[in-house]
Amino acid sequence: MNKKIEALNKEFPALGSRFGGKRLVYLDSACTVLKLRCAADAQRRHLLELGGCGGKRSFHALASAMEEEFNSVRAKAAAFMGAASPEEIVFTSGVTDAANLLANSFPFTPARDEVVLSPLEHNAVFLPFERLAAAGRIKLKVAPLKGCGVDWDGLERLVGRRTALVCVTHASNIFGGRCDAARAADIAHAAGALLFTDDAQYAPTHGGCGAPFGADACAFSGHKIGAPYCTGALYVKRDLLARLRPWRVGGGTVEDVSAGGGKFRVKYLDNYQGFEAGVQNYSGAAGLAAALDRLGECGFDNIRAHVSGLVDGAFKSLSGVKGVKVLGRREDLLEGSLVSFVPVRKGFSVPDFNLFLNHQLKGRFIAVRTGRHCADLACLASGYRETVRLSFFSYNTQADTDVFTAALEEYLKSLD
Ligand SMILES: Cc1ncc(COP(=O)(O)O)c(C=O)c1O
Repeated sequence: MNKKIEALNKEFPALGSRFGGKRLVYLDSACTVLKLRCAADAQRRHLLELGGCGGKRSFHALASAMEEEFNSVRAKAAAFMGAASPEEIVFTSGVTDAANLLANSFPFTPARDEVVLSPLEHNAVFLPFERLAAAGRIKLKVAPLKGCGVDWDGLERLVGRRTALVCVTHASNIFGGRCDAARAADIAHAAGALLFTDDAQYAPTHGGCGAPFGADACAFSGHKIGAPYCTGALYVKRDLLARLRPWRVGGGTVEDVSAGGGKFRVKYLDNYQGFEAGVQNYSGAAGLAAALDRLGECGFDNIRAHVSGLVDGAFKSLSGVKGVKVLGRREDLLEGSLVSFVPVRKGFSVPDFNLFLNHQLKGRFIAVRTGRHCADLACLASGYRETVRLSFFSYNTQADTDVFTAALEEYLKSLD
């Protein structure tokens, strides 16, 4: 194992935890990456040594120190996401929050009121736009699936002069692999539309987001890179940010409020501050910065190479198991961080298999994700009702996949 990966892996204390006396084999990093000690330490330090309120409301030395630190995290997030400036970064609680913000703030017009989604969108992105469509505020179109990826010609056919926004998940959380964000940007921009990429699954092992590929907005979640829960950021290109209408309003978002003629006039701040209503997750941001620093120090190239190797190993191991069908093509999967399969053996019950992994193995249990993975669009389009997903991060080894594969063989044997 690469020395930097080895050193990084000493910093995930949860790996050594026991649950009901059993050792954890963690293959669910697409759900959330285990937390880095340095991120937890940074959050704790922030809570205990600062613990005040940021400087947008109070103006004293503690508030200023907190605001300064908060903005240094903003600069770090901007560099990570490939933004031109920290002013293009809005802190969020993750991709769900970011997508809701974007959907509800987006400047749709009667002439441009359509949103085109890839068929791989997570419900975090699909549902905010579905709600707008159900309320008659936009028209929603979903591109077709081709194999386990986006049918790009099909997507291109849906994008036209009424399209305001195209949304593409940069790496699928159900089928794995990576989506071609540059191609998505070309298609959107050729029609005068904008592109949002969901980088929830891309950021952790590629170390970046869709902005350098041409996305006008993109988002990632901190908990998926080992940072505290409810941290993350939304990047919005400067000119689009100025056109968004703040969706969640409150303290810290206004430039001025005046009254006259029986009415109030509210002028919202037209930069990122207009979108960060109320007290912010300052301590979480400190943890986010620590995680970004630590993964950066390890090197995302190293993380990517390690995870790609694990995907390759899992693809090979699982492809050799009779009774399951591995989804996707090896060459595509290598660019992602997970492998999914569906049972083809009669009598295979995914919920029963999950129970088996949790309760029937000696001395350990295996945490994988089964079900629809909040990717209902992909399930509807593919016809797969549920899949079993193994997802990887730096701390996994081929031994984890071997343990899983042996358990899978054992479960299949029990069906004879
Ligand atoms: C592709 C994708 N998008 C969005 C999300 C939602 O992220 P969060 O729950 O951090 O908001 C997830 C979470 O699993 C995801 O995998």
